[in-house]
Amino acid sequence: MNKTLFMTALCSATLVGGAALAASSLSDMEQLGRHLYMDKNLSLTSSQSCATCHHQNYGFVDPTNSRDPYRTMVSLGDDGVSKGGRNAPTSAYAGYSPIFGLDEYGTYQGGMFWDGRKTGDVLGDPLAEQAQGPPLNPVEMNMPSVEAVVDRVAAANYASQFLKLFGPDAFVDANIAYDNIGRAIAAYERSSEVTAFSSRYDKGNLNAQERRGLVLVENFCGNCHATEAAFGAPAAVFTNYHYENIGVPVNESLLADPDSVYAIPDNGLGGFLGDPAENGKFKIPTLRNVALTAPYSHNGYFPTLTAIVSFHNSRDDWPLPEVGDNLNITDVGNMGLTSAEIEDIVTFLYALTD
Ligand code: HEC
Ligand code: HEC
Repeated sequence: MNKTLFMTALCSATLVGGAALAASSLSDMEQLGRHLYMDKNLSLTSSQSCATCHHQNYGFVDPTNSRDPYRTMVSLGDDGVSKGGRNAPTSAYAGYSPIFGLDEYGTYQGGMFWDGRKTGDVLGDPLAEQAQGPPLNPVEMNMPSVEAVVDRVAAANYASQFLKLFGPDAFVDANIAYDNIGRAIAAYERSSEVTAFSSRYDKGNLNAQERRGLVLVENFCGNCHATEAAFGAPAAVFTNYHYENIGVPVNESLLADPDSVYAIPDNGLGGFLGDPAENGKFKIPTLRNVALTAPYSHNGYFPTLTAIVSFHNSRDDWPLPEVGDNLNITDVGNMGLTSAEIEDIVTFLYALTD
């Protein structure tokens, strides 16, 4: 082979190799999780998958809500009628949330969902446990039982991958299989396809206004939306996975929707624990991809980023909190930011998009 030919062959081999690498950069476990995550057959009428409410193109939230945050704040269930009572948070970057419990200062931390109720105590992983919830939730995927979900997976075209990873008897015990379904989905959610750390912030590629916004976020938001890498993450996830009541108002239009299970007061963490001292507290959300994930807060009250940041800044200008108890009055509510500073912050938040 002459030199030019050899180089051409080498180059095209590299190109083909590169494309194949991009398509298969997920491990076997992550790929299986991806199949499960995308599989509409995990819902009763085969109408919805995890991706229906947590879509890649929309920062892993519900596209319906994201596209029309003024009118749709919660997701529609598989039955085509029922709606949830809380806005779907992103499924990305959730995998760093530790097992639910008290931290060294005696503050609740970790777990999954707005109220932490998927603790991670059963499987040792809150994210894997969370993934077991939606298929069986009547206002979500609405399947009748663990066995019914496992039967669907056993009949899927990717069932052989499941058997390859978990052994030839993988479907014999439905409960064991269901645990592995949760683990595989969690692996995908933690993969580089979902939890990408590929934003302009990660690339250190911020313009002057975004840099001003970052400094403001570090100073005014960092106590909650932590700006330093922690929890084993390679960079900041912009939450410390603690719980706070920042005083989000009642979402009146959601309350008026007879198909939504939203009822007030939603006590959040306090409701889960049955402890009034935690009433009104919700898990501090990540700010990654937040420009794509409208509407904002647990009940979707805020249609825009400017609205929710302005609310953090001057809460007294807004309607009364849904839960008045345990309100955070030290870090939130009276920040004294100017409208130019709020704009800097919002501009920075856009730079957190993967
Ligand atoms: C019908 C819409 C819908 C479907 C389908 C759905 N989810 Fe969700 N998801 C939600 C809502 C709403 C919440 C918040 C509920 C709450 O906090 O009480 C949520 C919460 C979560 C969270 C918690 C994030 C956090 O930070 O606490 C993760 C992770 C998640 N979903 C992943 C999944 C996976 C995996 C599937 C598929 C097995 C799935 N979801 C299916 C609507 C949906
Ligand atoms: C005291 C802790 C605390 C501080 C400080 C704080 N936040 Fe928050 N933030 C929260 C909590 C808790 C929520 C969710 C509240 C709820 O849904 O009830 C939230 C929600 C948000 C959301 C909505 C995210 C989503 O996915 O719905 C954005 C955006 C946000 N905060 C930005 C900021 C910015 C910017 C700052 C600084 C200017 C800031 N926050 C300061 C606790 C805090």
